[in-house]
Amino acid sequence: MEPFAGKRVVVTGAGRDFGRAVAVWLAREGAQVDLCARGEAAARRTGADIARYGGSARAYGCDLGDAAAIRAFAAALTADPAPLDILVLSAAPWLEGGLDDGADDAAIAAALAAGLTGQILLTRALLPALRRSAAPDIVAMVSVCGRPGFTASAAHPAFYAAKHGLSGFCEILGARLRPEGFRIIAAYPPDFTTPDPPGPPPGRDRRRAGPDRRGRVGEPPPRPAATPPLHPLRPPLRRPDAGGVRRG
Ligand SMILES: NC(=O)c1ccc[n+]([C@@H]2O[C@H](COP(=O)([O-])OP(=O)(O)OC[C@H]3O[C@@H](n4cnc5c(N)ncnc54)[C@H](OP(=O)(O)O)[C@@H]3O)[C@@H](O)[C@H]2O)c1
Repeated sequence: MEPFAGKRVVVTGAGRDFGRAVAVWLAREGAQVDLCARGEAAARRTGADIARYGGSARAYGCDLGDAAAIRAFAAALTADPAPLDILVLSAAPWLEGGLDDGADDAAIAAALAAGLTGQILLTRALLPALRRSAAPDIVAMVSVCGRPGFTASAAHPAFYAAKHGLSGFCEILGARLRPEGFRIIAAYPPDFTTPDPPGPPPGRDRRRAGPDRRGRVGEPPPRPAATPPLHPLRPPLRRPDAGGVRRG
């Protein structure tokens, strides 16, 4: 089963780290990937890597702290009438420290703007395209910082606030969109590192990294030894009752 083949996917924060790994991996799985990074050059680099692996991607620049940039990104995406199957909200600015040290007003406002408001604006703008999918998924990279009672991270309180807000957003979206067949997946990981480039998903025979059955050239550059595996995304569920929020 190749659950992502032919799916249309949007990935934010795809210029580096987790968002980039997910974009590359999904493209290698046969998805059509529309990706964005804050800087267009970084997005284009990921897009070029995907093309080198034989995948299909379109790359855009989008600062999630800028509502006009989000509107422009969404307009570019929705100019293609194809349904959007999966939205991966990975981008978020990291901020650390205490409330009264380090980060100034602008940094705090930016953490909330891109880490929360931008996620909501982008999701809203893409909702019509997601509604055209037979099995729409919204995947939000929250954080353990978004879990009630968790206080152990060095993250700034504004980062905690953004992640709690994103968690609440996912919760209500899950409740309201579930009857339409949406699945809202909120991930609450602790600290992790992302190998670059991503290896094949766990359980996949690594020998398949070469040219594959679909004729895509899937030869990734060598992966460093002893790096943790890419956190897998669940394949979309088929059940009509597959909605709601997943925590963890
Ligand atoms: N890594 C972890 O330990 C960890 C743990 C829990 C949750 N998470 C969450 O998982 C997601 C991915 O993690 P990660 O490790 O890939 O994070 P990361 O290394 O901190 O990368 C953050 C990503 O967000 C992008 N970004 C930041 N501000 C942006 C803005 N204003 N507009 C658009 N993009 C912006 C960055 O782009 P630039 O390259 O332009 O900066 C980068 O692609 C994030 O939401 C993060 O909060 C991560």
